[in-house]
Amino acid sequence: MANTTTNSSTLPAHINTNANAATATTTAQVSHPEGAGFHQNFSEYVQMDHKVFFAAADRNKDVILEKLRPCLDTARQVLEVGSGSGQHTYHFSKSYPNVTFQPTEYDTALLASIDAYAFDLLKEGHHIRPALELNATNPIHWQHILRTGQEQGQVGGQEEEMEQGCYDVVMTTNVFHISPWVVGQSIVRGAGRVLKRGGRFVVYGPFKKDGTFNTESNREFDKNLRERDASWGVRDIEEIEALAAGEDIQLKLDQVVDMPSNNYMLFFTKQ
Ligand SMILES: C[S@@+](CC[C@H](N)C(=O)[O-])C[C@H]1O[C@@H](n2cnc3c(N)ncnc32)[C@H](O)[C@@H]1O
Repeated sequence: MANTTTNSSTLPAHINTNANAATATTTAQVSHPEGAGFHQNFSEYVQMDHKVFFAAADRNKDVILEKLRPCLDTARQVLEVGSGSGQHTYHFSKSYPNVTFQPTEYDTALLASIDAYAFDLLKEGHHIRPALELNATNPIHWQHILRTGQEQGQVGGQEEEMEQGCYDVVMTTNVFHISPWVVGQSIVRGAGRVLKRGGRFVVYGPFKKDGTFNTESNREFDKNLRERDASWGVRDIEEIEALAAGEDIQLKLDQVVDMPSNNYMLFFTKQ
């Protein structure tokens, strides 16, 4: 599997820098010369092998892909919010070489890892865009994501098309509970803004139903999360559904799928 970088001092706590430690290579730290993740040059980073490994992403990548397939089968452009290490984008693109994936990440220390995974598939002709910085609460970042997708899909040239959604799928895994609620809310709003009509919004993670935990272990997990950061916590599906259904967002929840390890996958359709 991927080597890890050893820039642990610059990486946040959730990054597992010990994965594959036996084969980890020591690499010099490289800053982002173009800053803010809007870098275009893949090769610079790949030479340093910046791949980070998340054990959880490795464990759940197959079960998530199986449920995503019906969405990806007809998709042209897919936006991932909070791509983390880049393992998911890499794994999904492996099966869908003709779909254009746009990975994004809040934590700019991870952008190089996402690009390093992507580069392996770009060499084989797959379509993965350079990872973009996306703080979901920043409207300018969403505007940039929208423009990038429109350019890619060759729409948005006319004034009346400037706000037109262009992504077929917006997906996010394990983000809602490991961030403040305003981040989840902003992702729902952002997805409503950048998705095409009929596009799918897919959210994976642990959730409550009607305010109730599905297991004792998830109640305990929620408690641990909140002890770590009071703004984190397992969110409620009905609360997300109500927000998404709002007039200004228009995402209809049409499927809630039980997943292994007491997780769910939520599927919404842009009206
Ligand atoms: C546990 S990681 C999940 C990473 C990846 N999706 C996965 O499943 O391996 C939590 C993610 O929440 C994202 N996140 C936290 N705050 C965010 C924000 N303000 N905007 C967008 N994403 C955010 C981080 O970027 C991070 O990738």
